[in-house]
Order: sequence, then structure tokens, then C-alpha cells
Amino acid sequence: MLKGKHIILGISGGIAAYKSVHLLRLLRKAGAEVQVVITPAGKEFITPVTLSSLSGKPVISEFFTANTGQWNSHVDLGLWADAMVIAPATACTLAKMATGVADNMLVTTYLSAKAKVFAAPAMDLDMYRHPSTARNLDTLRADGVTLIEPAEGYLASGLTGKGRMEEPEEIVKVIEAWMDASASLKGKKILVTAGPTHENIDPVRFIGNYSSGKMGYALAGECAARGAEVCLVSGPVSLPVPDGDIRRIEVTSAAEMHAACLREFPGMDAAIMCAAVADYAPAVCSDSKIKRETTGEITLRLVPNPDIAASLGAIKTPEQKLIGFALETDNEHANALSKLRRKNLDFIVLNSLRDPLAGFGKDTNKVTVIAATGEEKSFPAKSKTLVAADIIDFTL
Ligand code: C5P
Repeated sequence: MLKGKHIILGISGGIAAYKSVHLLRLLRKAGAEVQVVITPAGKEFITPVTLSSLSGKPVISEFFTANTGQWNSHVDLGLWADAMVIAPATACTLAKMATGVADNMLVTTYLSAKAKVFAAPAMDLDMYRHPSTARNLDTLRADGVTLIEPAEGYLASGLTGKGRMEEPEEIVKVIEAWMDASASLKGKKILVTAGPTHENIDPVRFIGNYSSGKMGYALAGECAARGAEVCLVSGPVSLPVPDGDIRRIEVTSAAEMHAACLREFPGMDAAIMCAAVADYAPAVCSDSKIKRETTGEITLRLVPNPDIAASLGAIKTPEQKLIGFALETDNEHANALSKLRRKNLDFIVLNSLRDPLAGFGKDTNKVTVIAATGEEKSFPAKSKTLVAADIIDFTL
């Protein structure tokens, strides 16, 4: 998995830096190209000569190389890398990463890195337990850093407890597992719908719903992170396009979303219908703003919108997978199942509006995924990013 991969090994100043030499050897043995970036304190624990000999590249520590005046570009380095692993990550380096204190090459490179970042904390047990460290670790987790938790054991301080840097073999396994997952959808084309639709009443008013698009965008991001080529058909939301190979088609109404999906679906391996599509649209949309003074009381006549998921279900080939969502208030399971059959879906993701950690606008969700085969799996409440990973693991 690591053959030919570009990895930045960030070393900060902790006694566990001696283990980074072994980590570097393991990464090289697995076929990775490794660029070592070390903090000034790191050099007190391990010499750059050892590291450059083993990596086959000069070790980077300063912004400028003293004898040549050459600028070491953290931006280029950040773009070069497929992954960055900071091991050991001291309390100080973790704090700087969490707060963006870019006063050395390691943290500056971290801030520039577009790649996946892993950090293996190493410190004394009391430092690890301190609320300040816990806060910084929470921030880093939320920022998408994968923390490779320290193990329990004998510490350099003479104490025994949690804070020992995880063994290099385990760190490599975590990176390999991630590389494995990140290539699992390589070559696949996936259509994702997200967000609400807006059905215009007149030029300034619409019928909409509370969908934020967060779940659909998380799914699009996770598919892309696993190497898929994603087409994201999005209703009106205020979310940036996630990183990766994602082509966003912005639509407003259900009719526009329907047309875009019918056009895109034939080339796809799978479609995930996460959008909260309005069931009805006004039969007529007024060309000019409806005025209370001149119009008085009005009755809106609504006509049903096309069912996009069902339209795709009607044309899907045996090779294509179709995944829908259900948000139910009553008889959740039975309603989700009948929806799965009616729309000819392969899977339906059921999220209950009644759960306080699920639903519109939230950053968390709690889902049960039901397969057409009858198999099903319920997951605990998690961030929408992790829910996206669960859904993809189960369905694709
Ligand atoms: O029928 P209901 O709206 O509850 O079904 C929800 C599922 O169907 C979701 O996957 C949603 O994206 C999809 N859907 C659709 N077109 C509609 C209505 C719902 O694709 N007009």
C-alpha cells in the first residue's frame, strides 16, 4: 500500500524521537518516499545525519538552509505529500498545531499540507491527562487529524501510564489501513444528491425545507477521499465543495435536480440520493412579485414533483447501486422498507427525526442502513463524516 507514496515524517522534541528512526526504516522498507521535517527541539534527541542517511533526503528543519540561503518551501512539501505523520507529537507541537502557531517548519508544513495527517502523541502521563492537552487533541480530531493514541507503559519520567508513543509497527499499520481505504473506490463514479430544493412561488419566494446539505456533502467528500470520481448534484446550500475529485452541479428546483440526475446517472457506478427533494411545487410561478395589496388572499395550487430516486430506480442496470434516504416520524422501519421497494433501491438509510442527534442542520446523525437483501445495520450517533464512512462501508 505504501509503495511509491510520499510521506512527510514530522519529528518533534520528545524522548520517543529515537523510535522515529525505526518508523522511518519501516516506511522506507514498505516502499514509501519519506521526507523528514524535524523541530529544533527534535534535533536535541536525534541527529539529522541519521535521519538523512535513512531517508535518502536532506532533513528539513529551518525555513532557510543556512549555507546556501535556499528557502525550504513548506507549501511545495505540503502538496508533495500523500500523508504526513507526526511522531512523536509532543504536547507543545500538538498545541501549536491546534492553534496554528506556525513558528517552525513542522507546524508550517502541517498548515500547508493538503494530505491526510496522523499524529502519534508522546508525553508524560500528567501532561497527556491535562485538560489543555485534551482540548488540543479534541480540536485536532475535529480538524480531521487521525490521532494514534499513546499506549500505556513505562515512561521516560520513570512513571508508568498513558503517554508512551505507539510502536512504529502499529503506526505503519494505521497509515496502511488508511491508504487501503483511500483507494477503495478508485475508478468508481458516484452520483450524490444533497441539500434541499427550492420551488419558486414568485421571483422572491419559494417553498423549501430545513436540509443543510451536510450529510450529502460528507458523503461526497468521503467517496472522493476513497478515490472515487464524484458528481455532486446540489440544491441551494452554503457549503464549500469538499476536497477531492468532485464536480458540483448546482440546481435550485426538484425539476432541475431530476434533469441533472437523469443526464448523469447512466455513466455512474452508484447513486446516493441524499437530497431532501420537495414533494410538491407551485403549479404556476408568478413572473412578478405577488403583492398583498393587489392580490389579496391567494391559494397556492401544488403539483407533485418527479421522484428522482424512483426515476433512477426504473432505469438502473444490475451493475449500478442505488441508495436512498428516509426521514420518518412514524412507523419508521416499515415506511423505509416500503420506500426501498417502491423506488427499486438497493439500500435505504433511515434516520429518525425523533433522535436529538439526527436530522436537519446538525453535525451528527444516527442511522440504520437496510439492504434490499434484508440485511441491516444500526450505527450509534456520530459526526456526519463518520456516518458517511459507515454508509459507504456498508453499501459500496
Ligand atoms: O419519498 P421520500 O421523499 O420520503 O423519499 C426519500 C428518498 O427519495 C431520498 O433518498 C430522497 O433523496 C429521494 N427523493 C427523490 N425525489 C423526490 C423525493 C425524494 O429523489 N421527489
